[in-house]
Amino acid sequence: VKALQAPSVSDWKGHKFAPPFKAETVEWQYNNWQPSEKDVLVASFPKTGTTWMSQIVKHIIYKDNEETLKMAKVLTANNTYLESGTPLNYEVMEKLPWERKIWGTHNPANLINMNRLMENKCKIIYVMRNPKDQFVSWYNMCMTFPHRKAEAMAKLYPSDWNDFFQVYINGKQPMSDKEGEWYPDHILSWYPYRDQENVLFVMYEDLKKNPATEIGKIAKFVGVNRSDTEIDEIVEATSFESMKRDASNIHNLLSFFRKGQVGSWKNHFTVAQSELMDQKFREKISGTDITFTYE
Ligand code: A3P
Repeated sequence: VKALQAPSVSDWKGHKFAPPFKAETVEWQYNNWQPSEKDVLVASFPKTGTTWMSQIVKHIIYKDNEETLKMAKVLTANNTYLESGTPLNYEVMEKLPWERKIWGTHNPANLINMNRLMENKCKIIYVMRNPKDQFVSWYNMCMTFPHRKAEAMAKLYPSDWNDFFQVYINGKQPMSDKEGEWYPDHILSWYPYRDQENVLFVMYEDLKKNPATEIGKIAKFVGVNRSDTEIDEIVEATSFESMKRDASNIHNLLSFFRKGQVGSWKNHFTVAQSELMDQKFREKISGTDITFTYE
């Protein structure tokens, strides 16, 4: 049996990218991407609720235009992520006759031209999720990667939960970060922008607990008036069940809807792993006012 080819990991400014993210696209984006003041960038670390947030923003912005909303919903990560695919994606996006475009990124902020974004006031929503549920979600997603079976990749994405945890927590997986960096470093890269008027930080767990309140805040932030009834409709349309139902018609999207719960890490983490995760986060983000909700 022919061995599976490992997809190549690319590199820019010492940051490592695993497919579908590409150094070439990240660099192109850094030099050329010019979002407008009306655009929204959903920034996040993988598995923190990116797809959910993008969908919420699409509903808020395109709610009055059924056709646009429908089309925006089928634009998946490959089209709208700053670092995936090729610069060609930008051409596709640029050609869309929409006044407001919604983009996504898993890049740390230092791989985005933040001076330019702060100047042209593109709206940025940074989504966060407690790192233990995030990790469970990430482990499960990685287990579905076919290229994980290639020899070179098997070391980075081992099937064994404990081995995978070690590789991850030591920042060894190529996640648009530098060697040794991972989720807390991603947060630290975006954190300095949190008080800017064009930046909003949102927690997955808050969205889960009080969707209407959080969606109301997001609507206000992107400058769209939505009545309470409209907000309730958006809550319904972006619930885990509705989104999962919708996704079954969209190629490759179903894997982004697994459980959608808070606290399921407790079924997977050992006490030692939970404490190590706490400690690693404390070491890095104790200087911030970020506190996570774990249940
Ligand atoms: P789980 O794997 O824990 O279920 P991302 O979009 O950043 O890749 O994040 C994916 C995670 O968000 C998955 O977590 C997924 O189930 C969850 N998710 C997606 N849509 C959701 C929704 N509408 N409500 C709650 N969680 C959602």
